[in-house]
Amino acid sequence: MKQLLSEEQIRRGVQRLASEIGGYYAGRPLTIIGVLTGSMVLVADLIRRIDLPLRVGVIQARSYRGGATRPGPLQIDDSMLPDIQGRDVLLVDDIFDTGQTLSALLQQMQAFGPRSVRSAVLLRKLGRQQVAARPDHVAFEIPDGFVVGYGLDYQDAYRHLPYVAVLEPTDLAPGHSE
Ligand code: IMP
Ligand code: MG
Repeated sequence: MKQLLSEEQIRRGVQRLASEIGGYYAGRPLTIIGVLTGSMVLVADLIRRIDLPLRVGVIQARSYRGGATRPGPLQIDDSMLPDIQGRDVLLVDDIFDTGQTLSALLQQMQAFGPRSVRSAVLLRKLGRQQVAARPDHVAFEIPDGFVVGYGLDYQDAYRHLPYVAVLEPTDLAPGHSE
């Protein structure tokens, strides 16, 4: 695999994201909802840099199975979601690819009566968007390719890498066709 974003680049990108978010909410309390599992690393770094009164919770979305690098049907588990009624909510995910996951999650959250719901992602993959809405805060825009590291996985591997790398065809499971 080939490194796309170094630890230092990510550190600066996350700092920019945190400042942007802090500036937008301007002192208002914020509830951060991390999308499991890919956003874990970003959420951990981001919340320590946002200068606002914060609450943190999680929601789970899964769309990949086994060796796939293309999504299957989306499953959402909101059983761990804290009370967000009347709150300003920021959904945080690792990557905005087609946008299906984030737009389904944004819609699902509305049922719980938040005051507002916005979104932030580490990465936005260019040229693959299938929905109208875009994430409100983006740290990096990247070209199409399957990326891993800093929370992002391939078959549940590589999430722990401190940098982001692009998988090459030889990294993909044998028999897999893109
Ligand atoms: P979307 O619904 O197509 O926007 O996909 C978003 C979800 O797919 C993200 O939450 C990721 O978990 C996963 N995903 C999309 N692209 C990649 C990638 O390049 N590497 C790892 N996971 C990805
Ligand atoms: Mg994910």
